[in-house]
Amino acid sequence: MCGIVAYIGQREAYPVVLKGLKRLEYRGYDSAGVAIINNGLQVYKKKDKVAALEEYATSFDMRSPIAIGHTRWATHGEPCDRNAHPHVSGDGKLAMVHNGIIENYVQLKQELINQGHVFQSDTDTEVLLHFIEEIKKQNQCPLEEALRIALKRVVGAYVIVLIDADNPDTLIAARKGSPLVIGVGKGEHFLASDASPIVEYTKEVVYVNDYEIAIIKADELILKNISNERQTPYIQKLDIELAAIEKGGYDHFMLKEIFEQPQTIFDSLRGRLDAKKGTLTMGGIREYAEMLSKANRIIIVACGTSWHAGLIAEYVIEELCRIPVEVEYASEFRYRNPVVGPGDVIIAVSQSGETADTLVAIESAKEKGAIILGICNVVGSSIARLSHAGAYTHAGPEIGVASTKAFTAQLAVLCLVALKIASEKGSVSAQRFQHLLDELEQTSDKVATALKLDDQVKAIADKYKDARDFLYLGRGYNFPVALEGALKLKEISYIHAEGYPAAEMKHGPIALVDENLPVVIVATKDSYYEKVVSNIQEIKARKGKVIAIVTEGDQTIPPMADDVIFVPSADEIVAPIISVIPLQLLAYHIGVLKGFDVDKPRNLAKSVTVE
Ligand code: AGP
Ligand code: GLU
Repeated sequence: MCGIVAYIGQREAYPVVLKGLKRLEYRGYDSAGVAIINNGLQVYKKKDKVAALEEYATSFDMRSPIAIGHTRWATHGEPCDRNAHPHVSGDGKLAMVHNGIIENYVQLKQELINQGHVFQSDTDTEVLLHFIEEIKKQNQCPLEEALRIALKRVVGAYVIVLIDADNPDTLIAARKGSPLVIGVGKGEHFLASDASPIVEYTKEVVYVNDYEIAIIKADELILKNISNERQTPYIQKLDIELAAIEKGGYDHFMLKEIFEQPQTIFDSLRGRLDAKKGTLTMGGIREYAEMLSKANRIIIVACGTSWHAGLIAEYVIEELCRIPVEVEYASEFRYRNPVVGPGDVIIAVSQSGETADTLVAIESAKEKGAIILGICNVVGSSIARLSHAGAYTHAGPEIGVASTKAFTAQLAVLCLVALKIASEKGSVSAQRFQHLLDELEQTSDKVATALKLDDQVKAIADKYKDARDFLYLGRGYNFPVALEGALKLKEISYIHAEGYPAAEMKHGPIALVDENLPVVIVATKDSYYEKVVSNIQEIKARKGKVIAIVTEGDQTIPPMADDVIFVPSADEIVAPIISVIPLQLLAYHIGVLKGFDVDKPRNLAKSVTVE
């Protein structure tokens, strides 16, 4: 989710907000906008970069002591001018920016349409603003009170900042689940999604807590909780510099994104999976669910890490849905003149949604009559727009070139898709369906547990960082995890690494095994476990160095291995989301120890938009 900046005080507000939005550029975004009060409320917003907004605003009188600004990372409604923030209330008096997701916006929107509200955008944000406006009108109450009432009904995550033409000396903000920082100056206040737009003006900040509402004037900051009780603002001194803030205090974006995964997995399941109610809502594929359940074949096309996600989805979909699945490198698929036609379903998996090989592959399949499902991380991306249906992974912008949080979000969403098809098809028992909903809901916490292995993995990285080759092995669901671990290592440490099905080793690769070869084996407890134990013994018999990823409590493998990493137990269908974590960390630490730029590895691009 992207960036918010707001200002009220004695400076010109627009330049402060514009510069602040640029400070948030590292978070990635698809559109930007500002609202000021100058002869009434004025709103300027444009698709694309902040520079496009800046260029557009040069034609207007931007003087104002108050402003709110936003860089959008679309979740609901594709990137375009009208979906950009700030949004404006029906009476034209209020403008609002929002970071996060309003999960129950569809229901709220229908109610508001019935009450005569007209919407300009496709966003969930505009619905919230009209909801606040409606409450204010019905209750004839102050904006702050209307906001409080509205937020008690809203389900989801938000930081919102409101500006009111009738009260041009006040900003109102609220926070739940997304970050909000208030910079406290002398006769001025700054608001932002993180401290990077604030730190050059003041080091005194207040971190707003969940369910708090802030009423802010140039020289006054009032904090209240959602029950309207005054809270004492706790002013802290910022002690990190700008560069560190952008990375959230981490040394690299890649490490930040690895550690964001508990949240991004939660966000990807948010509003879709409710394990307590035993429900699964996939709005983006609802109208195709029956057709999907009747598909005679599913073909998954992707590249790189997304292709590894596709391989895992193959195992999951065939296991749960009993529909034949093929996984294809998009680049191979598109040139092979494949036999594709009506009745086939193509699932395109892509973080960027712009990968040329994947895009062209689905264009040709679509022309031949196949139904296209897009699993993308960027709303409104080319692949998403070309698809008939799909589901977004709400992993937020992934800045590191090596994909980490997008991969685990893809796995989570692909599991949801498989479960949706299976429930439509009746190919999974109610008990197993519920079990897997419970398992998925627990993955976020289990990933958080796995991240505690960081120091141990760093020590293992130091031990093996000078190896010339690595072998990564796994069976079943863990075979693609082995491939992903090998790719991560290759990408950021430039060490040659190969992923292989563990059983396949004896058909050739075992010739590579000697005392200089580290072999990473993903050996979590699953239906392949006993066979993997044998593979470990084969490696040890040839003096290979075994780094084993095993399930907590495993007592069989640790005595055999040179290094052991214990991860939380999980159903084999969701286990890859957890077992990949130490492999991401291993690659990261080896890359750092070797002194490479792990965020921008040589020869690579974040989105390969060339064939
Ligand atoms: C993964 O770490 C690499 N950056 C690369 O293999 C990537 O997964 C591939 O280029 C596909 O990108 P996409 O998911 O954006 O389509
Ligand atoms: N859900 C809102 C939208 O799609 C806000 C997205 C964001 O956090 O930038 O417009």
